[in-house]
Amino acid sequence: MKVDGKHYRSIWLDADGWSVCAIDQRRLPHEFVLAKITTCEEAADAIRNMLVRGAPLIGATAAFGMALAMRDDRSDPGIDRAYDMLIATRPTAINLKWALDTMSAMLRRLAPSERRDAAYARAVDIAGEDVTINQGIAAHGLALIEAAAAQKKPGEVVNVLTHCNAGWLATVDWGTATAPIYLAHDRGIPIHVWVDETRPRNQGASLTAWELGHHGVSHTVIPDNTGGHLMQHGMVDLAIVGTDRVAANGDVCNKIGTYLKALAAHDNGVPFYVALPSPTIDFAVADGRQIPIEQRSAQEVTEMTGRTADGRIETVRVVPPGSPVANYGFDVTPARLVSGLITERGVLQADGAALLAAFPERAKQT
Ligand code: MRU
Repeated sequence: MKVDGKHYRSIWLDADGWSVCAIDQRRLPHEFVLAKITTCEEAADAIRNMLVRGAPLIGATAAFGMALAMRDDRSDPGIDRAYDMLIATRPTAINLKWALDTMSAMLRRLAPSERRDAAYARAVDIAGEDVTINQGIAAHGLALIEAAAAQKKPGEVVNVLTHCNAGWLATVDWGTATAPIYLAHDRGIPIHVWVDETRPRNQGASLTAWELGHHGVSHTVIPDNTGGHLMQHGMVDLAIVGTDRVAANGDVCNKIGTYLKALAAHDNGVPFYVALPSPTIDFAVADGRQIPIEQRSAQEVTEMTGRTADGRIETVRVVPPGSPVANYGFDVTPARLVSGLITERGVLQADGAALLAAFPERAKQT
């Protein structure tokens, strides 16, 4: 997607042919800063510290991390070390494990002398495949937005609610939940997005709003608790969110608060869709209760960072000292609350049979 007229992906191989560039997402929306990743350790740090985040981008970064590791040590123990370091960074997004399994299985089939170049080629492919997948999600999700637009009177807009950032910054390009939104906007469908701010890290307010603004998509940032009210008043036509892991039965794990939006949508008859690329399906977990939920630092809740009127970036404390804090990063929305799964192979029912029929090769990899 474009930033000030220039096309960017969220991660790419540098022109030097070996180091990796990424947008430092911790600095947005205040500053647009590029970061250079030159070792597997730096790739692991980038994922752990959320310089990069979002399930598909975590996977792509891990793939590049494996390639960087192969510059230093192409032995079998070298593959193991890189795998162990990268897999330990974040627990919930399954794209991380998918990318590492894909890379390590491919590398183990090769002689050590072939591994570095093959690792780079596969990492670049994984990044490219993510973009193609998201374009597929865009095409299938567009039909849902077109159907909502067909119900509108002239001059009315389609109102979509989204949570967290499942935009191009969370993927390599296009996004998952945002892909149909960008395509609808580009096709001239009048569309407006309600953007949940998504405390505590504010991925909605900081990242989704920034992305949509740069693409010229009409949007409004709302405090996290607003969606139910909007749905009660007919102000949301459909919700589209992303996901970090979909269980074999269609349960959906996504950023904390997604479940409450799905409940409100169900109560108000608002269609609730989840957009996902196939590497986000985890056929190894039977249902959402088995998905590990990341707990992050209390600091993310007790502090907020922003830009002051005179341009300084400042962090302030918003919780009384001494008050205990809980910071669960994700929750699980049961499949029964999901109207459909928007995938690169079509919009599926949120159930195990539909997932298996659409992605039998993913089930076999498990
Ligand atoms: O903690 P984050 O910012 O990595 O969480 C991201 C999300 O929950 C996204 O909604 C999800 O990864 C889908 S991204 C296409």
